Amino acid sequence: MSFLPNPHGGKLIQAYDPFYDYTNLKNEIEIDAIALSDLELIGVGLFSPLTGFLGKADYESVVSNMRLADNTIWSIPVTLPVSYETATTLKEGEERKLVFNKEVLGVIKVSEWFEPDLDKEALEVYKTEELAHPGVKRLYERGPVYVAGDVTLVKKPEKGVFGDVWLEPKETRALFAEKGWKTVVGFQTRNPIHRAHEYIQKAALETVDGLFVNPLVGETKSDDISAEVRLKSYRVLLDNYYPAERVHLGVYPAAMRYAGPREAIFHAIARKNFGCTHFIVGRDHAGVGNYYGTYDAQRIFNHFTEAELGIKPLFFEHSFYCNKCEGMASDKTCPHSNEDRVILSGTKVREMLRTGTLPPSTFSRKEVVEVLIEGMKEETRV
Ligand code: ADX
Repeated sequence: MSFLPNPHGGKLIQAYDPFYDYTNLKNEIEIDAIALSDLELIGVGLFSPLTGFLGKADYESVVSNMRLADNTIWSIPVTLPVSYETATTLKEGEERKLVFNKEVLGVIKVSEWFEPDLDKEALEVYKTEELAHPGVKRLYERGPVYVAGDVTLVKKPEKGVFGDVWLEPKETRALFAEKGWKTVVGFQTRNPIHRAHEYIQKAALETVDGLFVNPLVGETKSDDISAEVRLKSYRVLLDNYYPAERVHLGVYPAAMRYAGPREAIFHAIARKNFGCTHFIVGRDHAGVGNYYGTYDAQRIFNHFTEAELGIKPLFFEHSFYCNKCEGMASDKTCPHSNEDRVILSGTKVREMLRTGTLPPSTFSRKEVVEVLIEGMKEETRV
């Protein structure tokens, strides 16, 4: 008997078929790194119940209502953009190879194509049309026509350094069951794990059976720390400070959208598909700049009942080390003022790391900082 939640929509989609015969298909669509990641994640069921890139009815419903046309909760459009030129050559019902870097990775059965209202998508999903927002910039850059249709993943992209930490939902589900975890909390991050992250993870772990540390390693903005360097820092942190039998590291290979609240829902759904029962949402989840309020990504969960969402969000206030408390705390637990608190912005920390300056150990573990500084040095040398 499994205690893990059912996949979103009821069934884990499995659309990977390495024997799929596409040799007779003449036409292809060239896809970018984001579409490749989406293709793979649809294929292995991380985006269940999606079986392909969204059609017009689903797309419009997701943009306006955060639901697919059949009413299933879904907050971020997963779409396949193409140029007008490609769009004029499409035929309804045809199959096309999906090609990345000259390699065929999937096949799409084209059901329709349509011109999206990008301004509306930007405003509804990202809450801004400003090109300074990295998600919005990408939205406008990616293309004027969306092609819809079910996909088959015919080849899984190479995993490189992520080989042992790239677990598919069917594998994480088996792993959690084997460990006997009835409750598992998922943790999303696109950053190195600092003391505040560690604090909220461990606070959550006090009340559940297992912690799934699940850093995003798909496309991020250029000034975020690279996934390869972060991976080394996660490994050293977990090896030194986490109980191996209660914590598992696995990557989330999706692209970062920086859509704040909407992306928090999307992140929660993907973790439910991995088999998590709980999901951590702290301050500014998936945010960027000042586009969202500190706790907007928590408030958005009020739109849905937990029963319908099928995964329980665990909310945390902005956490920090307090010199007077001599420990990690938040406004909820600490009566002192900001002067006593160790609070550094992400930008400030990245700048310190790039110049080889150690952030205090009350902000980030020494072992983590060393790996980050070394990794960033190596990357600038390349
Ligand atoms: S995110 O874009 O992946 O959400 P980040 O890696 O900074 O960004 O955060 C990972 C998770 O930790 C998110 O749920 C975020 O809300 C939470 N978080 C980050 N820093 C803090 C903090 N100081 N206090 C509380 N929660 C935090």
